[in-house]
Amino acid sequence: MNYAKALKIILEGGVVALPTETVYGLAGDATSNLAVSKIYEVKQRPKTNPLIIHVSSIEDALQYGYFSECALRLAEKFWPGPLTLVVNKKLSPLSLEATAGLDTIAIRVSAHPMLLSLIKESKKPLAAPSANIYTKLSPTTAYHVEEGFEGKVPVLDGGASVCGLESTILDCTEEITILRHGFITSEILASFLETSFLERTNSSKAPGGNKLHYSPETTLRINAESCGPDEFAINFGDSNLNSPYQLNLSIKGDLTEAASNLYNIMHEADVISKHKKLKVIAVAKIPYRGIGIAINDKLERGSYGAESE
Ligand code: TXA
Ligand code: MG
Repeated sequence: MNYAKALKIILEGGVVALPTETVYGLAGDATSNLAVSKIYEVKQRPKTNPLIIHVSSIEDALQYGYFSECALRLAEKFWPGPLTLVVNKKLSPLSLEATAGLDTIAIRVSAHPMLLSLIKESKKPLAAPSANIYTKLSPTTAYHVEEGFEGKVPVLDGGASVCGLESTILDCTEEITILRHGFITSEILASFLETSFLERTNSSKAPGGNKLHYSPETTLRINAESCGPDEFAINFGDSNLNSPYQLNLSIKGDLTEAASNLYNIMHEADVISKHKKLKVIAVAKIPYRGIGIAINDKLERGSYGAESE
């Protein structure tokens, strides 16, 4: 599907998959109840789990939420970019379902030029969760989306997502709290704010803090120190899980590169494992620092219920 078609579908209250710098999103007009309902339906996501609203500028964001001084500073520093801010919601034409009836709203300005143009040209805020079926692996290419939705959703191809991990989500309604680790690390945020801040301690404020999430179909075993020949191996740096089937998140041990490769490699590992009838994808230990924290969070949720070493 080309850009003009995507614009037309959005204006007609339809749903399209489109690129962002983090992962592909499943987008529709956030002011249209019809479009928002379709998003939940296609994604098979419970309607109690609200969507992120994508706008093209801070000015637009201010129409939908009350930004504290700190929230505004964060927006000025990191937008456009992979940061989502949760703020108190203003009365606005947004569909109530998009925010699951909450008093707060999760909002971000993406850095992807195609998405920014679509928002500007349609003059619509776009509700967009990641373009995967609920709890499945997130998509970082148009191909992943095609596969995940079995060709049933039109996809605007904007190349592979550069960050490869979802946006970091910060609750700015009271004390700044990380609700979801993502591409912008806690170290970067803490040094910018010149303060420490809270980490989420329970999931009550992040309706999507599901334990099982980002999950391939093949069982995922994390923190693996060895693996059998019947397992797919995902290495990092010089880890040496040995299998006839293996990939490396970053041969040079670079965590940012590993983040950007994560979902693509998991998709590939899943496809090969299914094809070769391997029962398990074993992933080497990923260092628990910087963006490694977000990577570990995704892997832990993806492996929820499976045993790890
Ligand atoms: O990088 C991203 O953020 C991608 C791209 C497409 O922008 N989007 C994304 O959306 O990851 P989604 O729906 O897959 O994840 C958004 C998370 C969900 O866990 C949801 O529960 C949470 O944000 N969320 C949305 N509104 C919220 C709110 N008002 N308060 C707390 N959490 C909220
Ligand atoms: Mg998601």
